[in-house]
Amino acid sequence: MNESKNNLMDKIVSLAKRRGFVFPGSEIYGGLANSWDYGPVGVELKNNIKKLWWQFFVQAREDVVGLDSTIIMSTKVWEASGHLQGFNDALVECKSCKNRFRPDDLDDKTKCLLCGGEFLPAREFNTMFKTNLGPVESNPVYLRPETAQGMFVDFKNIMSSTRLKIPFGVAQIGKGFRNEITPGNFLFRLREFEMMEMEYFIKEEDWEKYFEYWLGEVKQWLKLIGLKDENLYFHEIPDGERAHYSKRTIDIEYKYPFGQKELYGLAYRTDYDLKHHQEKSGQDLSYYDEATKTRYIPHIIEPSFGVDRTFLAVMLEAYREEKDRINLKLPVELAPYKVAVFPLLANKPQLVEKARSIYDNLRQDLLVAWDDRGNIGKRYFSQDEIGTPFCVTVDFDSLEKDDVTVRDRDTMKQTRVKIDELAEFLKEKLE
Ligand code: GAP
Repeated sequence: MNESKNNLMDKIVSLAKRRGFVFPGSEIYGGLANSWDYGPVGVELKNNIKKLWWQFFVQAREDVVGLDSTIIMSTKVWEASGHLQGFNDALVECKSCKNRFRPDDLDDKTKCLLCGGEFLPAREFNTMFKTNLGPVESNPVYLRPETAQGMFVDFKNIMSSTRLKIPFGVAQIGKGFRNEITPGNFLFRLREFEMMEMEYFIKEEDWEKYFEYWLGEVKQWLKLIGLKDENLYFHEIPDGERAHYSKRTIDIEYKYPFGQKELYGLAYRTDYDLKHHQEKSGQDLSYYDEATKTRYIPHIIEPSFGVDRTFLAVMLEAYREEKDRINLKLPVELAPYKVAVFPLLANKPQLVEKARSIYDNLRQDLLVAWDDRGNIGKRYFSQDEIGTPFCVTVDFDSLEKDDVTVRDRDTMKQTRVKIDELAEFLKEKLE
């Protein structure tokens, strides 16, 4: 791997821990491999990603509604969906060191990456997490590996409780679990992760039209979160390599420092899921089209997004090392704090009092940071590193003239703004 690119991952992981974006999971007990906790700043960035996604894919549209279904569903769901039989990864185990790998991850599939030993024959491994409902061990249930099934299983209830007409979508954000053989690369491959998924129900003959349409919307979303075209690749998945339910899939890949790999997926799932749930449950999951007086099982286009991979890509894209600072150039909608407020000196009560009242006022509408440690230069540096777009300083002139200095993260330009115009000034800038 390229040295400087490798470095970039190290720098992101270290910044993430130092500034409270992401901590290693269970660290005081020596850690739990490949588990990560989102810290005070990270949870804001993660929530902003989810909020923006919901605004874009649900709130701004009249043809999409939301859902929040359970993580543990009836085992019959996974029998019908094909996950119990087919949600497998191939696994090879080294005869000597016993380490396990996915053959896909190996350049040389004949010998162990770590010790050069021989492999046992490859075998299939179901990656769903199994647990029990209540104390009865013979009652296995599974943690969902995708949120999508909730949208299919609730399809009938969604239809009868709303006035939606095809084409329409159902969206959901929530945790998914996969017992990955080789998790790793920080937030890239986790065993517990979060997904943002949308199932768009259509008539079969319209599938190509809506596949193109949703590809366009995914591209808009990628722009919104600031990922550059040159770092993205749209990979048409060939026959024989797609998931068991898909007739066409495009993987949206990102050029991570560790290689070009999947960020999102867009799939045409046909009527596979609803058809199988109808068969298995004995319930009618067809749709009656008033206009044509026909009844059919809807087909589905599914854009699917990992929250954690978005978080990682957004951090990588935003990270800039400039002359004497690190600038995390996050899109303003995603920045954890929108504004930071400082009194020029922490030991001058008049400055602190005035800065406090500005801080309290702005906090009604925005997430605002407060800092009165060290000098102004250090405070700017500290806010740039976590991507705060604006810093507001109350100085001695502020006491005379009722104005403040507003400093822009990216241009570093400073502007004097009247305190009573500050909220409006920031609102305009942040929009
Ligand atoms: N319902 C479709 C589906 O589950 P997928 O490509 O397997 O498709 C969707 O997963 C998205 O979830 C991926 O594009 C990726 O962003 C994210 N994802 C999948 N496995 C992941 C893992 N082990 N860790 C983090 N994110 C993951």
